Amino acid sequence: MQIYINKLTFGYGIKTVIKNLSLTLNQGDYLVIKGKNGSGKSTFIKCLLGINDVKPGSIFLDETDITAFKKWPKFGYVSQTFDGFNYEFPITVSELLNVSSANNVSVQTRLKLLDQMKIFNIQNQNINSLSGGQLQRVFIVRAMLNNPEVLILDEPTASIDKQNKTFFYETIEALNKQGITIILITHSDSMEHLHYTHVLEMYADSTNNFSTRQHSTEGGDE
Ligand SMILES: Nc1ncnc2c1ncn2[C@@H]1O[C@H](COP(=O)(O)OP(=O)(O)O)[C@@H](O)[C@H]1O
Ligand SMILES: [Mg+2]
Repeated sequence: MQIYINKLTFGYGIKTVIKNLSLTLNQGDYLVIKGKNGSGKSTFIKCLLGINDVKPGSIFLDETDITAFKKWPKFGYVSQTFDGFNYEFPITVSELLNVSSANNVSVQTRLKLLDQMKIFNIQNQNINSLSGGQLQRVFIVRAMLNNPEVLILDEPTASIDKQNKTFFYETIEALNKQGITIILITHSDSMEHLHYTHVLEMYADSTNNFSTRQHSTEGGDE
């Protein structure tokens, strides 16, 4: 999918959160979004996913204006702190994935994802018994079930330990190598070791700065 943002401006009421944001991402790109709390990162993602209504002409997905776009299964989304999710609900991992997926997802697809995320063996556990790291993996599997072209992760490492973080970044890297576009929001992690291709920095005064990554000439391991 090509994502083309054309001078997007968005706010809540009289408060402008995003001013004049333009960028283009092509299939297989890896965008990191940085910025302090409140700078508008989650707001931007909600614009991109059609959750926040934007003006026609400001976002095009595969050359279709977002106001007319319908192919939402092309996006996988893991929201910040899985908001709106009821952790107390007595439901197993399998059951959660059943109710979350489109009805044409093959059993093989699901099992392969569970295996890739190394949570094959917790399928029958109740979700309220899982650790933060395990729960996150379940949500990534859920986001990947419909075989999306773009995977969006909003501050995915905020509440997991170092070991889970390492595994998480390796997994995202592998998915990106498979050709999936990655959009990753972070406000704290050091990104130097990641193979991202673009950076969007967002600021509290609603300005922003989008750039293609400049690869360092040192090291030369690629
Ligand atoms: N639904 C909303 N209604 C009104 N204001 C909001 C809403 N969501 C976020 N905001 C405000 O918009 C600004 C950006 O928030 P957000 O996009 O969540 O930032 P970030 O994800 O970078 O922490 C903040 O000032 C926040 O209070
Ligand atoms: Mg946020």
